[in-house]
Amino acid sequence: MAKSASTTKKVVPAKKVTETKIEQAKKLQKAPLLFPTDLGEKASKDISAAMNSVLADVFALYLKTKNFHWHLSGPHFRDYHLMFDEQGDQLFAMTDPIAERVRKLGGTTLRSISHISKLQSISDNNADFVEPADMLTELCQDNIKLTARMRSAHDVCGQYNDTATASLIENWIDESERRSWFLFESSRKSDSSGH
Ligand SMILES: [Fe+2]
Repeated sequence: MAKSASTTKKVVPAKKVTETKIEQAKKLQKAPLLFPTDLGEKASKDISAAMNSVLADVFALYLKTKNFHWHLSGPHFRDYHLMFDEQGDQLFAMTDPIAERVRKLGGTTLRSISHISKLQSISDNNADFVEPADMLTELCQDNIKLTARMRSAHDVCGQYNDTATASLIENWIDESERRSWFLFESSRKSDSSGH
């Protein structure tokens, strides 16, 4: 006589179900900030590392841009002061989306100024006075450096098919190149015709 479906179904003892739930709860307790992503654990780790490095540089460059905005002096004060402010706003606007992308991938992100200083590749400038022309040159080079770091992060996203992070980076690269362009053009020496 054939067995009915109800008789062939494996019954999991209540004790075993409870143990599994306890194991799951323990795992969650150990890693409360982890959550699953279809990209996988390695992708989460590698993309988070790349994006946290970018984030550290964005914070470093944001503060340097504001530093120059605050400590600028010279005949082009108004132009440069306003341009640095605009560029600072643009950099600051990147910070929250970068940090939240990392969290969406199951990673953890920056926690403090000391954490930023460990990861930043853009150097601080604590000089008492910086010539306006040197400010333009330094910020231009820093933005080029940031662009290169974002391109590397974009490559990492490509390896794992993380299109969401990659598409955000694409816009940020364009913004960064625009900042470099403005800084470079503003640093050109004028001739007698005023050009
Ligand atoms: Fe201001």
